[in-house]
Amino acid sequence: MANYDFNRRIDRKGTRAFKYDFLQQRYGRSDLTPMWVADMEFETPDFILEALQKRLDHPVYGYTVLPKGYFSAIARWVESHHGWPVDTAWISFIPGVVRGVASVINCLTAPGDKIIIQPPVYHPFKNAIIGNGRQVVCNPLREMPDHRYEMDFDQLESVIDGDCKLLILSNPHNPAGIVWDAATLRRLAEICHRHGILVISDEIHCDLALWGNRHIPFATVSKEAAEISITFGAPTKTFNFAGLVSSFAIVSDDALRQRFYTWLAANEYNEPDIFGPIATMAAFTEGEPWRRELIAYIEDNIRYVEDYCRKHLPGITAWRPQASFLVWLDCRGLGLSHAGLIDLFVNRARLALNDGAMFGREGSGFMRLNVGCPRSLLAEALDQLHQ
Ligand SMILES: Cc1ncc(COP(=O)(O)O)c(C=O)c1O
Repeated sequence: MANYDFNRRIDRKGTRAFKYDFLQQRYGRSDLTPMWVADMEFETPDFILEALQKRLDHPVYGYTVLPKGYFSAIARWVESHHGWPVDTAWISFIPGVVRGVASVINCLTAPGDKIIIQPPVYHPFKNAIIGNGRQVVCNPLREMPDHRYEMDFDQLESVIDGDCKLLILSNPHNPAGIVWDAATLRRLAEICHRHGILVISDEIHCDLALWGNRHIPFATVSKEAAEISITFGAPTKTFNFAGLVSSFAIVSDDALRQRFYTWLAANEYNEPDIFGPIATMAAFTEGEPWRRELIAYIEDNIRYVEDYCRKHLPGITAWRPQASFLVWLDCRGLGLSHAGLIDLFVNRARLALNDGAMFGREGSGFMRLNVGCPRSLLAEALDQLHQ
């Protein structure tokens, strides 16, 4: 039985929502339906709002410590949802996953070192590497005939040299929504371990595996994986509070954890704000029914997009994601140039999506559609594209 109303439309304009109030700067016009930034149009669930409100009612917002039971709430969630028995001592608060990635780059690599990414992939990885004076090495995913990607291990072996110190894995993968299987992750771990390469596993989308898929934490696939990995997670995508800063790291290897967490502490990046951890505790203790309903709603939205493309948008194929609320639209059948594709979406359809080239040149010809929204909004957006 449905308890939550995902159909309700909420006006976010003027709330300083990046997705709405940054349109002019990003797209050169503000009259667009925003289907881009990866947050959702749904109300953050009531049990989180209530927990926040309770703290808000106390009028002093001074320095804080983490709520009692914070680490065990995370550990319980990770074990019950992903089968990974995590010791609470392995967990640290971090102020956002991208900041966590940048922290690892600064703490565990040196200027000039090479860092591997597998495009098309979440673009802040590349920005964090370049902006911190390291070199990007690309191991592009291999496109398969049935609308999906695989990792290319022969190519990975060929791009690795002695300067490669780190690989950043998106697991599940953004933008294509891939839930990596155990064999793939194990092979990746074996190669990286053999070459002395650490792995960041960004698992921020892991609680949104769809269609009965099971997320596999990278660190669990082998002894090698556990030795070389730093895992990042957060409830912020799943429970829609990305504007509150609350993420966590899990490192099971003692020596690696000691190095990284000493650095985090020295920079006070393990220090929380008041509200993020409260929201995290509420999400991980009360959030399961909401998460289940959300997943069912997202799956229906994805089916809606697939049907719509088949019926009305020849030239656009929706690749079915295995996780999360982002759909990788293959628009190459339209035969448009990059500029032509942007013009179609922005100036003619009045839609703001992330264009695929943002995620690496392998993403050219694709658009990333955010379906974390009421179905009526999704239907309007697709109609705008059809007209
Ligand atoms: C793969 C991935 N990692 C990280 C983030 C951002 O995480 P945070 O806001 O905690 O930095 C996103 C947001 O879209 C994402 O898709």
